[in-house]
Amino acid sequence: MKLWLDTASIDEIRTAARFGVVSGITTNPSLWAKAASGTDYRDVVLEICSIIDGPVSAECLAQDVDGLVEEARHISKWHPNVVVKIPLDENGLEAIYRVSREGIKVNTTLIFQPNQALLAAQAGATYVSPFVGRLDDIGHEGMAVVREIVEIFDRYHMPTQVLAASLRHPLHVIQAAQAGAHIATMPYPVFQAMFKHPLTDAGIQKFLEDARKAAKVKA
Ligand code: E4P
Repeated sequence: MKLWLDTASIDEIRTAARFGVVSGITTNPSLWAKAASGTDYRDVVLEICSIIDGPVSAECLAQDVDGLVEEARHISKWHPNVVVKIPLDENGLEAIYRVSREGIKVNTTLIFQPNQALLAAQAGATYVSPFVGRLDDIGHEGMAVVREIVEIFDRYHMPTQVLAASLRHPLHVIQAAQAGAHIATMPYPVFQAMFKHPLTDAGIQKFLEDARKAAKVKA
């Protein structure tokens, strides 16, 4: 399973890039507003592309099919790694079908049930993004939707990749991997929490102390 960051913060992306394990980025208008309000979305996305050599999702905002198609064509030209995000409603589905036939890569966003993922895959989307945390928030088991989509895509050998999104804590990352998601996209604090454990910190300290003691005995 690939690890992506869900952020528009250049600082977070630069920091995470140092570890070499983040292979893509997802952004959305809320993340853009949070991290880089007052900037140009295209500039932010291009800067991200200069840091991470992998897919970078940028969201379409048009409400009608022709508008979505035009916006997807426009955004996809920003950089070869840009993937356009289109939400899965009726207009979104038609737009996904039309732009996918032109070779534009689509990350289908705001997926909350397997039928939406099945439709997006049939329409030619490259990725489907089930939103786990937002389902958990309203009392549904978000990860169950990831599991169901993975099972369906596997059974019918569908090439569309399952991108577990709206992850809120490190357990979500483990569960997404167990569910067979191709990618997990997560906020920076969740990424940080993946490599932290108190026993690791305590173990490092203990080894240091013992090494110092051993060196003294030898001296
Ligand atoms: C995914 O591409 C979305 O940007 C994201 O995961 C949404 O997460 P949220 O529910 O925490 O806003």
